[in-house]
Amino acid sequence: MERIKTAIVGCGMISYIYIKNFQNLFSVIDLVGICDNFAQNAEEKSRLFHVPVMTMEEIKADPEIRLVVNLTGPQAHYPVIKELLEAGKNVYTEKTLCVDFEQGRELAALAKEKGLYLGVAPDTFLGAGLQTARLLIERGMIGRVTSARAAINRSQALNSELFRFIRNPGGGFAYDIGVYYVTALLSLLGPVKKVTGFVSEAREHEARILRAGDFGNTWKTADNNLYAGSMLFENGTVATLHLDGESIDEEQPSLVIYGTEGILNLGDPNSFHGEVRLQFNNSPETLMPFTHGFTGMTLYGPEPPADYGQHRGTGAAEMAWAMIGKRPHRASAELGLHTLEILHGLDVSAAEERVYRMTTTFRQPDPLPCGYTDQILGGMQCDAEGSLV
Ligand SMILES: NC(=O)c1ccc[n+]([C@@H]2O[C@H](COP(=O)([O-])OP(=O)(O)OC[C@H]3O[C@@H](n4cnc5c(N)ncnc54)[C@H](O)[C@@H]3O)[C@@H](O)[C@H]2O)c1
Repeated sequence: MERIKTAIVGCGMISYIYIKNFQNLFSVIDLVGICDNFAQNAEEKSRLFHVPVMTMEEIKADPEIRLVVNLTGPQAHYPVIKELLEAGKNVYTEKTLCVDFEQGRELAALAKEKGLYLGVAPDTFLGAGLQTARLLIERGMIGRVTSARAAINRSQALNSELFRFIRNPGGGFAYDIGVYYVTALLSLLGPVKKVTGFVSEAREHEARILRAGDFGNTWKTADNNLYAGSMLFENGTVATLHLDGESIDEEQPSLVIYGTEGILNLGDPNSFHGEVRLQFNNSPETLMPFTHGFTGMTLYGPEPPADYGQHRGTGAAEMAWAMIGKRPHRASAELGLHTLEILHGLDVSAAEERVYRMTTTFRQPDPLPCGYTDQILGGMQCDAEGSLV
């Protein structure tokens, strides 16, 4: 079986689940090296997962490495992706594509010009929850989709005490978390035509977590964290986006798709296994069984300190299969760029008090075939990867 020799750049928190899934879940990925400019992070994962540490120069110079997965923080995305594309590597990057929309456009154009694959997370839209929702919509279970509503809350300033990247551009609530909701809506409903937004400016935060090391210090996050937005899709669907990153960390994720015949009430799109509830007239809301694999079930391999993130890496594996099949991949650069433009559009609309007209579009990713499972024979094997081929 053809496998794609792959390297990872960026060995921080999310790299645990990527490495674990690459080694245990996705046979198409042959992970041959990991790299971090903070040596200790790469060495720690190397010891845990027995993967060699490489430098960026070694990765670029190795002709056998065809795919590089970028797990650096958002601020490093643009230079790292650009450098890898220029070296002729196919790149899959964690979200968001990059911090600045024009730089994102440049990266997508560069990949196209060089005939390289560029994939962009989040890949949670390939999970069982959102793929089940897609199937129900396409089978006409809720009739014609009329509107959608997405809402989420957190305390982004409090979290910025623990995760320092949140303080910098690209770490705002829309880029860090809103991106899951926007990508989910795009995967279900296709491209957006216009965006409007109201934004409230980030406030001064006084650090209060003693052990985080900044107690009493004050700062403002570079990005804003409080948005009320609306979107008009090309297919006529209207949607609202409520992102409150100035509330509390007890999240109340909400993603609802309304149709002429029913309503789909979906679970957290920042997971692979968000529940799918279907509501018809005159009947109770019903929990639907998943029709797809990638339900977030725990897999083999060493447990990361926090074994969350579940099936992250699915988008990269799907792209690897697309490279083998010479077909388009689902978590495409165009989808990532359109998502980034919506986030950018919210800020522009708010700042200039106008409707923002989208300049990019994308081809709605094909749904995954249904009927695949995460575990068979009591968890001895899974066949979900087969749905990516
Ligand atoms: N942590 C999460 O819960 C989570 C979940 C989903 C997605 N993500 C995304 O994953 C990415 C990484 O997040 P994280 O939480 O692991 O961040 P992190 O800060 O823990 O890790 C990032 C790593 O990248 C390294 N790095 C930075 N610039 C580099 C460069 N130029 N070359 C090599 N290494 C470099 C850093 O040293 C660090 O080890 C981000 O894009 C984030 O949005 C994170």
